[in-house]
Amino acid sequence: MSVNKFKGVRACVFDAYGTLFDVHSAVGRHSARLPDASAVSILWRTKQLEYTWLRTLMGRYVDFWQITQDALNFSLDTYEVTDAALQQDLMQAYLELSCYPEAPKVLEALKEKGFRCAILSNGSAEMLNSAVRNSALQDFFEAVISVDSLGVYKPDPRVYQMAVDQLDLQPGEIAFQSSNAWDAAGAGAFGFKVAWINRFGQQAERLGTLADAELKDLGGLPDLL
Ligand code: LAC
Repeated sequence: MSVNKFKGVRACVFDAYGTLFDVHSAVGRHSARLPDASAVSILWRTKQLEYTWLRTLMGRYVDFWQITQDALNFSLDTYEVTDAALQQDLMQAYLELSCYPEAPKVLEALKEKGFRCAILSNGSAEMLNSAVRNSALQDFFEAVISVDSLGVYKPDPRVYQMAVDQLDLQPGEIAFQSSNAWDAAGAGAFGFKVAWINRFGQQAERLGTLADAELKDLGGLPDLL
Protein backbone atom coordinates (compact mmCIF):
# COMPACT_ATOMS: atom_id res chain seq x y z
CA MET A 1 0.00 0.00 0.00
CA SER A 2 1.40 3.41 -0.91
CA VAL A 3 1.92 5.89 1.90
CA ASN A 4 0.18 9.26 1.57
CA LYS A 5 2.99 11.65 2.37
CA PHE A 6 0.53 14.52 2.63
CA LYS A 7 -1.56 12.90 5.36
CA GLY A 8 -2.37 15.39 8.10
CA VAL A 9 -2.05 18.42 5.84
CA ARG A 10 -4.55 21.17 6.69
CA ALA A 11 -3.33 24.13 4.67
CA CYS A 12 -1.85 24.71 1.21
CA VAL A 13 0.71 27.48 1.00
CA PHE A 14 1.72 28.67 -2.45
CA ASP A 15 4.76 30.42 -3.77
CA ALA A 16 3.60 33.29 -6.00
CA TYR A 17 5.98 34.04 -8.85
CA GLY A 18 6.40 31.19 -11.30
CA THR A 19 3.96 29.01 -9.36
CA LEU A 20 0.65 30.90 -9.42
CA PHE A 21 1.72 33.78 -11.66
CA ASP A 22 3.59 33.59 -14.95
CA VAL A 23 6.59 35.90 -14.56
CA HIS A 24 7.26 35.78 -18.29
CA SER A 25 3.81 37.17 -19.09
CA ALA A 26 5.11 40.72 -18.40
CA VAL A 27 7.63 40.64 -21.24
CA GLY A 28 5.16 38.54 -23.25
CA ARG A 29 2.76 41.46 -23.29
CA HIS A 30 5.39 43.78 -24.80
CA SER A 31 7.46 41.30 -26.80
CA ALA A 32 6.93 43.16 -30.10
CA ARG A 33 8.90 46.07 -28.62
CA LEU A 34 11.94 43.92 -27.71
CA PRO A 35 14.36 42.25 -30.13
CA ASP A 36 15.41 39.51 -27.64
CA ALA A 37 12.19 39.26 -25.63
CA SER A 38 12.70 35.76 -24.26
CA ALA A 39 16.35 36.36 -23.32
CA VAL A 40 15.46 39.67 -21.62
CA SER A 41 12.75 37.94 -19.58
CA ILE A 42 14.98 35.05 -18.52
CA LEU A 43 17.83 37.35 -17.47
CA TRP A 44 15.36 39.62 -15.64
CA ARG A 45 14.08 36.67 -13.59
CA THR A 46 17.56 35.21 -13.02
CA LYS A 47 18.97 38.52 -11.75
CA GLN A 48 15.88 39.16 -9.63
CA LEU A 49 16.41 35.89 -7.76
CA GLU A 50 20.17 36.37 -7.46
CA TYR A 51 19.63 39.81 -5.94
CA THR A 52 17.27 38.37 -3.31
CA TRP A 53 19.90 35.83 -2.25
CA LEU A 54 22.80 38.28 -2.40
CA ARG A 55 21.05 41.08 -0.54
CA THR A 56 19.96 38.63 2.17
CA LEU A 57 23.59 37.47 2.58
CA MET A 58 24.83 41.07 2.53
CA GLY A 59 22.27 42.20 5.12
CA ARG A 60 21.14 44.86 2.66
CA TYR A 61 17.42 44.26 2.23
CA VAL A 62 15.39 46.36 -0.17
CA ASP A 63 11.86 45.35 -1.10
CA PHE A 64 10.99 43.10 -4.01
CA TRP A 65 9.71 46.00 -6.12
CA GLN A 66 13.17 47.60 -5.96
CA ILE A 67 14.85 44.24 -6.62
CA THR A 68 12.59 43.67 -9.63
CA GLN A 69 13.38 47.12 -10.99
CA ASP A 70 17.15 46.71 -10.49
CA ALA A 71 17.08 43.31 -12.19
CA LEU A 72 15.06 44.67 -15.11
CA ASN A 73 17.50 47.54 -15.58
CA PHE A 74 20.41 45.08 -15.57
CA SER A 75 18.69 42.97 -18.20
CA LEU A 76 17.67 45.90 -20.42
CA ASP A 77 21.20 47.35 -20.26
CA THR A 78 22.67 43.94 -21.13
CA TYR A 79 20.53 43.79 -24.27
CA GLU A 80 21.08 47.51 -25.00
CA VAL A 81 17.43 48.45 -24.70
CA THR A 82 17.17 52.17 -23.99
CA ASP A 83 13.40 52.72 -24.24
CA ALA A 84 12.49 54.33 -20.87
CA ALA A 85 8.75 54.05 -21.55
CA LEU A 86 9.16 50.31 -22.12
CA GLN A 87 10.94 49.95 -18.76
CA GLN A 88 7.95 51.56 -17.04
CA ASP A 89 5.46 49.47 -19.00
CA LEU A 90 7.27 46.26 -18.03
CA MET A 91 7.21 47.21 -14.34
CA GLN A 92 3.51 48.01 -14.62
CA ALA A 93 2.95 44.64 -16.32
CA TYR A 94 4.62 42.95 -13.32
CA LEU A 95 1.72 44.22 -11.21
CA GLU A 96 -0.71 42.54 -13.60
CA LEU A 97 0.94 39.19 -14.29
CA SER A 98 -1.32 36.47 -15.65
CA CYS A 99 -2.02 33.54 -13.37
CA TYR A 100 -1.46 30.07 -14.83
CA PRO A 101 -4.68 28.84 -16.43
CA GLU A 102 -5.26 25.91 -14.06
CA ALA A 103 -4.83 27.97 -10.87
CA PRO A 104 -8.44 29.16 -10.27
CA LYS A 105 -9.97 25.68 -10.69
CA VAL A 106 -7.34 24.09 -8.45
CA LEU A 107 -7.91 26.67 -5.71
CA GLU A 108 -11.66 26.13 -5.99
CA ALA A 109 -11.21 22.35 -5.64
CA LEU A 110 -8.93 22.76 -2.62
CA LYS A 111 -11.45 25.07 -1.00
CA GLU A 112 -14.21 22.52 -1.60
CA LYS A 113 -12.06 19.85 0.04
CA GLY A 114 -11.74 22.08 3.10
CA PHE A 115 -8.06 23.08 2.81
CA ARG A 116 -7.00 26.50 4.01
CA CYS A 117 -4.97 28.35 1.37
CA ALA A 118 -2.35 31.08 1.62
CA ILE A 119 0.47 32.67 -0.38
CA LEU A 120 4.00 32.99 1.01
CA SER A 121 6.19 35.10 -1.23
CA ASN A 122 9.17 37.37 -1.62
CA GLY A 123 6.83 39.90 -3.24
CA SER A 124 5.90 43.09 -1.41
CA ALA A 125 2.31 43.27 -0.16
CA GLU A 126 1.37 45.79 -2.85
CA MET A 127 2.77 43.62 -5.64
CA LEU A 128 1.10 40.47 -4.35
CA ASN A 129 -2.28 42.05 -3.70
CA SER A 130 -2.22 43.58 -7.16
CA ALA A 131 -1.42 40.26 -8.87
CA VAL A 132 -4.03 38.40 -6.79
CA ARG A 133 -6.74 40.98 -7.57
CA ASN A 134 -5.79 41.08 -11.26
CA SER A 135 -6.53 37.34 -11.53
CA ALA A 136 -9.59 37.56 -9.21
CA LEU A 137 -8.07 35.05 -6.77
CA GLN A 138 -8.58 37.07 -3.59
CA ASP A 139 -11.45 34.96 -2.22
CA PHE A 140 -9.34 31.80 -2.20
CA PHE A 141 -6.65 32.99 0.21
CA GLU A 142 -7.06 33.55 3.92
CA ALA A 143 -3.58 35.12 4.02
CA VAL A 144 -1.15 36.70 1.57
CA ILE A 145 2.14 36.65 3.46
CA SER A 146 5.05 38.82 2.32
CA VAL A 147 8.65 38.59 3.53
CA ASP A 148 8.68 42.39 3.67
CA SER A 149 8.01 42.70 7.41
CA LEU A 150 10.92 40.29 8.05
CA GLY A 151 13.45 41.91 5.73
CA VAL A 152 15.07 38.71 4.42
CA TYR A 153 14.25 36.55 1.40
CA LYS A 154 13.63 32.86 0.76
CA PRO A 155 15.04 30.32 1.43
CA ASP A 156 15.88 31.71 4.88
CA PRO A 157 13.96 29.42 7.28
CA ARG A 158 12.52 32.45 9.07
CA VAL A 159 10.45 33.11 5.95
CA TYR A 160 8.78 29.67 6.07
CA GLN A 161 8.22 30.16 9.82
CA MET A 162 6.03 33.18 8.94
CA ALA A 163 3.43 30.82 7.43
CA VAL A 164 3.54 28.56 10.49
CA ASP A 165 3.00 31.55 12.79
CA GLN A 166 0.28 33.15 10.71
CA LEU A 167 -1.71 29.96 10.13
CA ASP A 168 -1.02 28.63 13.65
CA LEU A 169 -0.16 25.16 12.35
CA GLN A 170 2.78 22.77 12.64
CA PRO A 171 5.18 22.70 9.62
CA GLY A 172 4.05 19.15 8.83
CA GLU A 173 0.43 20.32 8.54
CA ILE A 174 1.35 22.60 5.64
CA ALA A 175 1.73 21.54 2.00
CA PHE A 176 3.96 24.02 0.21
CA GLN A 177 3.83 24.40 -3.56
CA SER A 178 6.60 26.01 -5.59
CA SER A 179 7.81 25.77 -9.18
CA ASN A 180 11.15 27.12 -7.99
CA ALA A 181 13.16 24.00 -7.16
CA TRP A 182 15.43 25.88 -4.73
CA ASP A 183 12.34 27.22 -2.90
CA ALA A 184 10.89 23.71 -2.75
CA ALA A 185 14.20 22.54 -1.27
CA GLY A 186 14.20 25.35 1.31
CA ALA A 187 10.62 24.58 2.31
CA GLY A 188 11.39 20.86 2.61
CA ALA A 189 14.46 21.54 4.77
CA PHE A 190 12.24 23.68 6.99
CA GLY A 191 9.78 20.82 7.50
CA PHE A 192 6.87 21.51 5.16
CA LYS A 193 5.37 18.78 2.99
CA VAL A 194 6.40 19.88 -0.49
CA ALA A 195 4.93 19.55 -3.95
CA TRP A 196 7.45 20.74 -6.52
CA ILE A 197 5.55 22.13 -9.51
CA ASN A 198 8.14 21.36 -12.15
CA ARG A 199 6.61 23.47 -14.92
CA PHE A 200 9.83 23.77 -16.87
CA GLY A 201 11.01 20.15 -16.86
CA GLN A 202 14.07 21.00 -14.76
CA GLN A 203 16.45 18.62 -13.03
CA ALA A 204 16.01 18.32 -9.28
CA GLU A 205 18.34 20.52 -7.24
CA ARG A 206 21.12 18.77 -5.31
CA LEU A 207 20.44 20.54 -2.04
CA GLY A 208 19.99 17.61 0.30
CA THR A 209 16.18 17.43 0.30
CA LEU A 210 13.70 15.84 -2.07
CA ALA A 211 10.16 17.07 -2.67
CA ASP A 212 7.39 14.78 -1.42
CA ALA A 213 5.75 15.00 -4.84
CA GLU A 214 6.56 16.37 -8.27
CA LEU A 215 3.81 17.66 -10.56
CA LYS A 216 4.07 19.28 -13.98
CA ASP A 217 1.52 21.96 -13.07
CA LEU A 218 -0.92 22.61 -10.21
CA GLY A 219 -3.63 20.49 -11.83
CA GLY A 220 -2.84 17.28 -9.93
CA LEU A 221 -2.72 18.91 -6.50
CA PRO A 222 -6.29 18.32 -5.24
CA ASP A 223 -5.98 14.56 -5.92
CA LEU A 224 -2.61 14.42 -4.21
CA LEU A 225 -3.88 15.79 -0.90
C1 LAC B 1 8.30 34.15 -4.64
C2 LAC B 1 9.41 33.90 -5.60
C3 LAC B 1 10.43 32.97 -5.08
O1 LAC B 1 7.14 34.36 -5.05
O2 LAC B 1 8.96 33.38 -6.79
O3 LAC B 1 8.58 34.14 -3.45
